[in-house]
Amino acid sequence: MMQSTIVYIRSVELSLSLVPVTPKGFYMEIRSATREDSESIAELHRAETGRQPYTTGIFGQVANFPSAVAFDGSKMIAFALSQQFAPDILEITDLLVSRSHRNTGVGTAILAHLEKQAYGQYASLILCNSILYEAPGKRLASGFYERNGYFPAHETGNTTVFVKSIEKD
Ligand SMILES: CC(C)(COP(=O)(O)OP(=O)(O)OC[C@H]1O[C@@H](n2cnc3c(N)ncnc32)[C@H](O)[C@@H]1OP(=O)(O)O)[C@@H](O)C(=O)NCCC(=O)NCCS
Repeated sequence: MMQSTIVYIRSVELSLSLVPVTPKGFYMEIRSATREDSESIAELHRAETGRQPYTTGIFGQVANFPSAVAFDGSKMIAFALSQQFAPDILEITDLLVSRSHRNTGVGTAILAHLEKQAYGQYASLILCNSILYEAPGKRLASGFYERNGYFPAHETGNTTVFVKSIEKD
């Protein structure tokens, strides 16, 4: 009896700490990044892209601009970072979901979390999506951005610049 009570309390605590955020029923914790997340962000970046990130840049970005990180348990599975492009335009510099968790709504959820912080502070969001950053065989995320309200403002053949207007309060 005692044991089942303990199990019940644990399950209540667990359900309170996990927030259902994706339409596909995937549960995760999502929040803005802090400086303490910088090394985990850099590690996830290295693991997924094979490229060395600019860690000092990450440190400054999470301290000063909108961001989002997602966790499956204690494991970081996604991040989104931004920086100022112009006084009223925010640039989304990085958006990455671990391969193991793609296509479950995580990317859409962290993008929305970052965007929410930009409302009222910025008039537009801008980002570039370039094949020159991609490993061979990877598909560009253009379709993903279009379904999230971004429109292609400029294309070079290798790179597309996407823009989304957001309302000021
Ligand atoms: C692009 C990325 C962030 C999307 O995250 P995700 O968690 O897989 O996306 P979601 O699950 O929220 O959305 C999935 C939807 O977007 C579409 N989508 C996802 N990645 C896509 C891509 N590369 N191109 C086109 N559509 C894509 C899926 O088809 C899916 O549509 P559906 O619901 O109709 O099936 C993720 O694939 C990723 O990290 N890719 C590698 C890094 C990258 O390309 N980052 C962007 C650099 S600018």
